[in-house]
Amino acid sequence: MKLTEFKTVFLSGKGGVGKSTVSSALGLYFAETGFKTLVVSLDPAHSLSLTFDTEIGKKPKEITKDLFAVEIDPEKEAKRYLNRVKREARELLSPVVIGEIEKQIELAYYSPGALELATADVIYRVAVSERKFERVIFDTAPSGYTVRMLTSPELTEEWFKRLIALRREALKYQKMVGEKVEKDPVLRILERRLKEVRELRSLLLSPETLIGIVVNPQTLPLEIGKRTVKELSAAGIEVKLIVGNRVSTEDEKELIEKEFPQIQKIFIPPLKEEPRGVEKLKGIVKHLKEDL
Ligand SMILES: Nc1ncnc2c1ncn2[C@@H]1O[C@H](COP(=O)(O)OP(=O)(O)O)[C@@H](O)[C@H]1O
Ligand SMILES: [Mg+2]
Repeated sequence: MKLTEFKTVFLSGKGGVGKSTVSSALGLYFAETGFKTLVVSLDPAHSLSLTFDTEIGKKPKEITKDLFAVEIDPEKEAKRYLNRVKREARELLSPVVIGEIEKQIELAYYSPGALELATADVIYRVAVSERKFERVIFDTAPSGYTVRMLTSPELTEEWFKRLIALRREALKYQKMVGEKVEKDPVLRILERRLKEVRELRSLLLSPETLIGIVVNPQTLPLEIGKRTVKELSAAGIEVKLIVGNRVSTEDEKELIEKEFPQIQKIFIPPLKEEPRGVEKLKGIVKHLKEDL
């Protein structure tokens, strides 16, 4: 498959290996190929402002023709969503029950892996529900966290199914039957969650989704890369690309080949100048033009 045929890309890897740089360059490559592309940073240590050398915020900013970038903090997004649901609940329900309901809303939201779910929430919104871009690249937080986020859909589906059943049962006893049940804010959050985790799972398993890991030819990035491949594969998710960044010698290439024998690789040499801004990122793009 050609690199440009993948519609959604997730890049993971240890901090500092070049995830944001490679995500930005890949975005530029997609845009140059003619696809309207969005690069999304989900790493709280945002660095797209650095790689694109321009201020980037919560709204997609146009970097160059067909290329947009945005930095999203999943934790802040989660809080905003939670507050909105609480506000709606206050408008909808009597003051007598509101205290208890608010507690339940928080419980429903802060279920296991809340931050992973908040991240999943952003991914769902950008890549599934309001897909406005032909190509979306996620520059994700360092590995352990990313793996939990990518594998949590499978784990949490059952969890939400049970919570929904429990909530429906509870509502029966609260005389909130009929159409009022559908308006129950707790149930609404749980059902939205269930829908999201299902769709996210299918996004992760889609042949049009590319999950890649960026490594450097050093022990720690390689170890973290290997662990990520293993954990994802245990969750049935295939890593389809290894980006060997800052690889200058044949020995370094071989080292990476040896660690990931089954996975396609792209190698990028160290550039003399920091690849910041569209012009310099082209020095990285050169190395991306390969079939996978
Ligand atoms: N191939 C490369 N050659 C030279 N400098 C690079 C290369 N790749 C990344 N860098 C630089 O390394 C630093 C870390 O890269 P960055 O993409 O921010 O890593 P991450 O997002 O994984 O933390 C940045 O200063 C970036 O400009
Ligand atoms: Mg980064």
